[in-house]
Amino acid sequence: MDTITITLNGREVSGHPGMTILELAQESGVDIPTLCHDPLLTPIGACRICIVEDERRGVLLASCVSPIMSGMVINTESPRVLERRKTIVELMLASHPDSCLVCDKGNRCKLRKIAADMGIGLVQFQKIPQAATIGELNPFIERDMSKCILCAKCIRADQELVVEGALDYIDRGFASRPATLLDVPLEKSECTFCGTCVDVCPTGALMERDNSYRATARKSVDTICPFCGCGCAISLEIRGNRVVRSRPGRNGSVNKGTLCSRGSYGYDFIHSPERLSHPLLKTNDTFEEVSWEAALDAIADGLRRVKEASDSNALAVLGSSKGTNEENYLLQWFARGVLGTNNIDNGSRLYNSASLIGLGSSIGFPGSTSRLEDIEGSEVILVIGADPTASAPIVGYALKRAVKNRGSKLLLVDPRQTKLLPFADLWLNPTVGTDVALLNGMAKVIVDEGLLDEEHVGRRTDNFDALTEGLQQYSAERVEEITGIPSEDLRYAARLFAGATQASIVYGNGITQHSSGSDAVLALANLAMLTGNISRRRGGIYALQRDSNAQGACDMGCLPDFLPGYQSMTDMQARKRFEEHWRVQLPTDQGLTAVEMLQQAREGHVRAMFVVGEDPAGSFPDSTSIKQALDNLDFLAVQDMFMTRTAEMANVVLPAASFAEKEGTVTNFEGRAQRVRKALDPIGESLGDSEVLLRLAKRMGSPKQYLSLQEIMDEIEDTVPLYLRYSYTGGDPGEVEQSEFDVGTVGVRRLYKGRFPDGFGRFSSVQYVPTSQVSHDGYPFTLLVGTILHQFGNDSRAARSSRLQKFCSDSFVEICASDAQQLGISHGDAVKLVSPTAEVSTVARIGSTVSHGLLFMPMSLSSSHAADLFDISLDPQSKTPSFKSCAVRIERIGSHG
Ligand code: FES
Repeated sequence: MDTITITLNGREVSGHPGMTILELAQESGVDIPTLCHDPLLTPIGACRICIVEDERRGVLLASCVSPIMSGMVINTESPRVLERRKTIVELMLASHPDSCLVCDKGNRCKLRKIAADMGIGLVQFQKIPQAATIGELNPFIERDMSKCILCAKCIRADQELVVEGALDYIDRGFASRPATLLDVPLEKSECTFCGTCVDVCPTGALMERDNSYRATARKSVDTICPFCGCGCAISLEIRGNRVVRSRPGRNGSVNKGTLCSRGSYGYDFIHSPERLSHPLLKTNDTFEEVSWEAALDAIADGLRRVKEASDSNALAVLGSSKGTNEENYLLQWFARGVLGTNNIDNGSRLYNSASLIGLGSSIGFPGSTSRLEDIEGSEVILVIGADPTASAPIVGYALKRAVKNRGSKLLLVDPRQTKLLPFADLWLNPTVGTDVALLNGMAKVIVDEGLLDEEHVGRRTDNFDALTEGLQQYSAERVEEITGIPSEDLRYAARLFAGATQASIVYGNGITQHSSGSDAVLALANLAMLTGNISRRRGGIYALQRDSNAQGACDMGCLPDFLPGYQSMTDMQARKRFEEHWRVQLPTDQGLTAVEMLQQAREGHVRAMFVVGEDPAGSFPDSTSIKQALDNLDFLAVQDMFMTRTAEMANVVLPAASFAEKEGTVTNFEGRAQRVRKALDPIGESLGDSEVLLRLAKRMGSPKQYLSLQEIMDEIEDTVPLYLRYSYTGGDPGEVEQSEFDVGTVGVRRLYKGRFPDGFGRFSSVQYVPTSQVSHDGYPFTLLVGTILHQFGNDSRAARSSRLQKFCSDSFVEICASDAQQLGISHGDAVKLVSPTAEVSTVARIGSTVSHGLLFMPMSLSSSHAADLFDISLDPQSKTPSFKSCAVRIERIGSHG
């Protein structure tokens, strides 16, 4: 590559063409102060603090926007530079309030630091008074525009990184300042309270609210956000034993300097007064605090009693898609190696298993095939069954950036009008539950019109004839009858997707939580293989995950039908390897999935359960029958951070440590294994799941004991082929080819990297089957449930975050204006939703995301009880309950207010 050499402070240094003076100076270890510059944002040269002198030409240049040019003689600290820089800072201070002592930005204020570094105290200019304008009511962000230095970082972060368009400059001249459209408060604007602008603001103009004045953090711990499956890197700032701030990770992270409101502000669930802090034992229907020894003895006794009275298959263990990889590995060991049962599953059964089945049997790789950053180079992106702007905001940002900055075309398939709609090239709005027909229809157009990648299909896939045979009945006209999608739109979508040299597919729970979820994933894989995109870097499939470690929990074998690393229970070599490690004979009986365990408990076959970090009574469909099942158990033990609905029914409840109180790794939806670090001492007597399991296993006489987390990780490296380099000491993965592996801070999980692990991709012929989970006689509406931005998961995280709760906690159902008018329902009226299974009361909101005949209800609000409305109807392949839509009617039961 060409280089350009300049003289920098008397030294010759070289950089590449296009590099700015600031970038070369930073690379050369020369410090230049900056205020408006941020490497993640487009440089605008607004503040001029970074001026340097080109002594050859005798000019002053803003180094952040001036490219290096051959022969430049740059002085970053000439007398002229220092004098001019001082004047700039003094002018800024002249219009800055003298409120540093009561400003929460305090020692973190960049303006104050630069002034102090330059020895600037009192300024020579007359002060320009600034009116403070603190007018927000939201619990997240406080704006004090009197401290704004007009660096536009907030505006650029909003427009370039998260692409919301909530902020821009308003007014002109001295009155000019960043503001929302029409200068309304943030809570009435498009702002999503992602916190990115607060993080980049160099002064106290934007600050975190409701957690202010916690003093300067003494340490900062890099870890991973505990909410969705994006796996965002965060730095927790700690004072005492409290988290005072969460900041987004930058270089090398999936989130690249951004977060969402959950990651920025939701962490306060850690310090909720409702956290369980002592082991609890139920006697005569009342919980009493007991010692850990007494609680663990009670669990060991309870499980042993049932095993002796029945057999190992009367025991079942439900693990968590939020626990670490090591905890999940230990949990499946505990079930198989200590209790002797394959009745082990994790909470991601409710949304991820269709991906494991569908992707595993088609492309031979059980997860996403590409990195999120690659999506911004995709020409066409098909988003189906996912609203990443709410469920996986970092993915939403990447999609919007791809469209806005890179010209990607977005094909949006969703029955709701989500916030991605304004970015869509084409919106397909199919009848709920008809995804398989739609995808088959696209595949048929591609085959019929010869738009497939014949070389890829011929050389790298098999079963193509079965696919084409199965597609015969999916003409665009028939698909229009089934889905309601005009045939021309279907053809346009297929041609656009197939015509791209790099096309990606992003899908979520809207695909996987249907009774045909596995077939829909297979149909998506068919599309990706037909067009060859599965083998291209900026193509591929992104399977979004709901919880922070859904991928890892499954990778670790917290599944009834697979040993760790998706090794078959019938693979004798694999079994032998684990038996040698664990010094036991592995159980051979077929294990039960999460919902099957509870069905079997209801029928009296499963007699005892150990539930770790999940709340089936609060978050599984048909909660009435789930509660009956739990009630029918002889023994139930729960380990959780909070007294969940399931914990209330337990014999023993153990207080679990939060993500911030333990060590380990988690694996995000891309397959990136990342380190979770201990930032706090556990609250009260709570313990991490690993420690609990090891102590319990010892009590139950396990011949195998693990002495350290490193020993567990070593065993994972040894037994799980997906995880090949795995060390707490981190460091260089040695001779491993870097491009082939994810070189994270600790874990190294094999990536897909454009190759079918089994050599060939396999097409599947899948057929559309009508579902009963949509409107029918007596139930004229189809209720969709899903995630909303400020709430997430079950009762144990967002629902315990005081700030997220303050902002958004009341259950509601959204209905379109015409349906509401026809039913005499006004915005805010109390309404009743009645399904064939149950009825729940809530409040009506008239909104525009749903159309005639559709309703939407957030699943994650603890007050919603939406899960009660569903029956249990399983995808026959993945055993995932259909949990995305159900038939209901809606009745007004009271007036507004
Ligand atoms: Fe260069 Fe502000 S940092 S102009």
